[in-house]
Amino acid sequence: MGSLFGQSKKTIPQVEQLLDKMTLEEKIGQLNLLTPGGGIATGAVVSKNVESKIKAGQVGGLFGVAGPEKVRLAQEIAVNHTRLKIPLLIGSDVIHGYKTTYPIPLGLSSSWDMDLIEEAARMAATEATADGIMWNFSPMVDVTRDPRWGRIAEGAGEDPYLGAAIAQSMVKGYQGQDLSAPNTMLACVKHMALYGASEAGRDYHSVDMSKIKMFNQYLPPYKAAVDAGVASVMTSFNDIDGVPASGNKWLLTTLLRRQWGFDGFVVSDYTSVNEMVDHGLGNLQDVSKLALKAGLDMDMVGEGFLTTLQKSVEEGKITEAEITQACQRVLEAKYKAGLFDDPYRYLDSKRPEKEILTAENRALARKLATRSFVLLKNHYEILPLQKEAKIALIGPLADSRNNMLGTWAPTGNPDLAVTILEGFKNVAPYASIQYAKGANISDNADFAKKVNVFGPRIQVDERSPESMLKEALDIANNADVVVAVLGEATEMSGEAASRTDISIPKSQKKLINALVATGKPVAIILMSGRPLTISEELEMPVALLQVWHPGIEAGNAIADVVFGDYNPSGKLTATWPRNVGQIPIYHSSKITGRPAPEKFEKFTSNYLDVPNTPLFPFGFGLSYTAFEYSDLKLSKKEIAQGESIEVSVTIKNTGNFHGEEVVQLYLKDLVRSITPPNRQLKGFKKVFLKKGEQKTVTLTLVPNDLKFYNSTSEFVAEPGEFEVYLGTDSNCTLKKCFTLK
Ligand code: NOJ
Repeated sequence: MGSLFGQSKKTIPQVEQLLDKMTLEEKIGQLNLLTPGGGIATGAVVSKNVESKIKAGQVGGLFGVAGPEKVRLAQEIAVNHTRLKIPLLIGSDVIHGYKTTYPIPLGLSSSWDMDLIEEAARMAATEATADGIMWNFSPMVDVTRDPRWGRIAEGAGEDPYLGAAIAQSMVKGYQGQDLSAPNTMLACVKHMALYGASEAGRDYHSVDMSKIKMFNQYLPPYKAAVDAGVASVMTSFNDIDGVPASGNKWLLTTLLRRQWGFDGFVVSDYTSVNEMVDHGLGNLQDVSKLALKAGLDMDMVGEGFLTTLQKSVEEGKITEAEITQACQRVLEAKYKAGLFDDPYRYLDSKRPEKEILTAENRALARKLATRSFVLLKNHYEILPLQKEAKIALIGPLADSRNNMLGTWAPTGNPDLAVTILEGFKNVAPYASIQYAKGANISDNADFAKKVNVFGPRIQVDERSPESMLKEALDIANNADVVVAVLGEATEMSGEAASRTDISIPKSQKKLINALVATGKPVAIILMSGRPLTISEELEMPVALLQVWHPGIEAGNAIADVVFGDYNPSGKLTATWPRNVGQIPIYHSSKITGRPAPEKFEKFTSNYLDVPNTPLFPFGFGLSYTAFEYSDLKLSKKEIAQGESIEVSVTIKNTGNFHGEEVVQLYLKDLVRSITPPNRQLKGFKKVFLKKGEQKTVTLTLVPNDLKFYNSTSEFVAEPGEFEVYLGTDSNCTLKKCFTLK
């Protein structure tokens, strides 16, 4: 069969034959994705009567079911009780590890290590498939420049170039070479599209954006996933140009299928088809029709397809061919996953024990966590600590097992996580460690209730704040050094966890002020799912290590870095604002016609109260050692269209520790037909240098790196001068120029 929407593609005979036998009802059944509950529901609805619906051939896939026995039960119902014996797709949100939870994606992105990220995804796929799951609702690649938005935790930050590279590594890691292998899974890139640009950082809110911004800044990671062969795409909740993504034909057909050549299947987000009724696009029948016609193939949880499509065919509003097309795509995915050859291929009851939560997997999770930490400040070189030190370990997150995994780890088990207190004892058994909670994460019981929807993350202590503080200060006064573990509980970020104030909660601010006032050296371990506004803490004479939510090996990994077994190398992938008033703030913003000089000047683009500069720029991250850059060279001064250019730089480790550095390349297009961004990331490489060692690093700018989408959405490079900047973060100053003829 040819394609109704996209270019015609090779068909799969087995799928064709099956389609020929299917009734309209059976085809519609394949478009229905349900969750029987038991896991974490991310909407108000949980599917009912799932078993009888499967028997009636009304279900194409399930999520929220895991483990070979349970999945087998579901699969047997589908295979033994339906006329055509079509197996189910079994999906799950495996966002940062399956049971061996590793750092939240924003943390993982801070490693800038594509091989490691691929390895992480590989591990997640191995564990999830061992538990019977062959379809993953990941990677989440939504670019965002708004840390108020709680889901910034789930993605790779603000940059389209880095985001695209990470999207590809994750797709490769999940899908491997052969989707039918029992340890690979179908990836699902989400949320197409622009979900990270929700107005005011409020989840599920509207998005309105120019095509220029969309194509240049927000779409590249989704496209990169498609280019890497991602098997499925999930739509977003927001509207784009006034039409919600799940019903947006331009997005799902013109762009995704026709222009990008995507040939997998598209699934809605949780009830996002139904939500188009609230968006104001008609009743459930209208919006379901709109979604199908737009190119959506599978309806998650809402059952709008199941309950209205047949009627729409009968009324001539849609054709059976349109349903057949969607069904074909879903069946092709099942075929690719090998389910028609063996519906039980992912169900080996011996695998979970052998392949899940193994020592090797935990070791990888620990390594990934150490690579995700970003050293923001190291006053007096407080860090690393001596392993024999007398340490006051203080803070509401220092011994809080419930908060180690991070948001959206529904398959992980918080009880298996290592706390910081435990990690310190493991890594520095000869240190003297005294612990006190010191403060509540927040004293606000109402706030705590909203955060504790998936379990007790914020536990407001029975003791008064004063008595907790006194206990902490007694310990601090008696120690050589204070380590304060502060920040956000896991569910203070993530889905439906937006905040307008992204500073450290007041209860903890009080604690840190009192600890610093003791005069003892203080190292702050900052845990959060987003950039925080920490101007006040930055002024303090402290060390600051950003650790995100590190996953199951949290405590061990933090101890590895705090005690110097690993020298931190993470770099921020989202700009940190001074205050929320600066949001959106990102490194590639435009220069404006009235750029602000360093010193305040009236009638330039500035604020009266704070400078334009962020608290920490994109790409920022310190090390226990120091790196010196010199000798930036370009292979050519002038290039023609289609030519590449090599950029090399010498980098030397001039400090006292071995260490890794992320060499970053930024490009500035000086003159072009649409206003250029200030700088854009166009290359990076992570290198290891022993102390005293020097290396030459070469990066290649390829023709596409010079291109952008112009006002008619063509991807072009325009002749003129370019500046190349190379160095340690997005403010780097080593510069060379070249001309594109
Ligand atoms: C809603 C979320 O937006 C999406 O990311 C997730 O995959 C689904 N719920 C299913 O859990």
